[in-house]
Amino acid sequence: MLEKNITGVRETVKAWRSEGLSVGLVPTMGYLHEGHKSLIDRAVRENDRVVVSVFVNPMQFGPAEDLETYPRDIEADCRLCRAAGADVVFHPEVSEMYPKNFTSFVDTTGVTEELCGKSRPVHFRGVCTVVSKLFHIVTPDRAYFGQKDAQQLAVIRRMVRDLNINVEVVGCPIIREADGLAKSSRNTYLSAEERQAALVLSRAVNAGKELIARGETDGDAVLQKMKALIEAEPLAKIDYVEMVRRDTMEIHRTVDEPVLVALAVYIGKTRLIDNFIWE
Ligand code: PAF
Repeated sequence: MLEKNITGVRETVKAWRSEGLSVGLVPTMGYLHEGHKSLIDRAVRENDRVVVSVFVNPMQFGPAEDLETYPRDIEADCRLCRAAGADVVFHPEVSEMYPKNFTSFVDTTGVTEELCGKSRPVHFRGVCTVVSKLFHIVTPDRAYFGQKDAQQLAVIRRMVRDLNINVEVVGCPIIREADGLAKSSRNTYLSAEERQAALVLSRAVNAGKELIARGETDGDAVLQKMKALIEAEPLAKIDYVEMVRRDTMEIHRTVDEPVLVALAVYIGKTRLIDNFIWE
């Protein structure tokens, strides 16, 4: 099940292909939770074979971010993958993915300018580079990404379209805890008090949705309401709360076409994201 080498994955996929089997890929950074499991479950349903990649990609972390402390537990990840019916866990070393003198990058512009792209300037170049490497290594028919990282999903769709990569990108719904907090590996950073405070993200999402459902089309009014709610939580600090066009990620403050309302909020030192799409 566990494969650390690129050549090993390639040989396995080649053998599957020779039997005419379809292949699904679930790219992850590990420390898998119910959100990842929902992606793996769907990949297992829709493909003959499934590869889950587990790789904490240094290239997508900024210098002051949490690369060193990002939670890791490959044994638990393999157990979850096996139980969910995945066939291979691809878990390369950093040196396997980025050998010495690695100098090639995939950079998707425009769609990366706002939201997380603005607050995390190197992030999407790292994501696009590693995801396109994974696409080349695994050559999947379908690849599965969570809607929680809504901008990432839009960026990957754009990269796949622009570079004619032969893969179907499948977006999957946000999975939440019973109390509404979106599942994230970073939730493990939260103290009990912060975990409670973190509910402000899903509360803001619900407040924004309700306002639009009641007929509000003024984006500024929606964002103001959401921001006021978050600002009332002493442990929360807003990185952004923004409304953008669903596909291009351009700022758009009127609900007259499909929009993404996305937020990033620090709870203590932990940066959490959440969003909803209004269609
Ligand atoms: O969403 C993630 O976990 C990562 O950004 C991804 C897509 C696996 C690339 O490292």
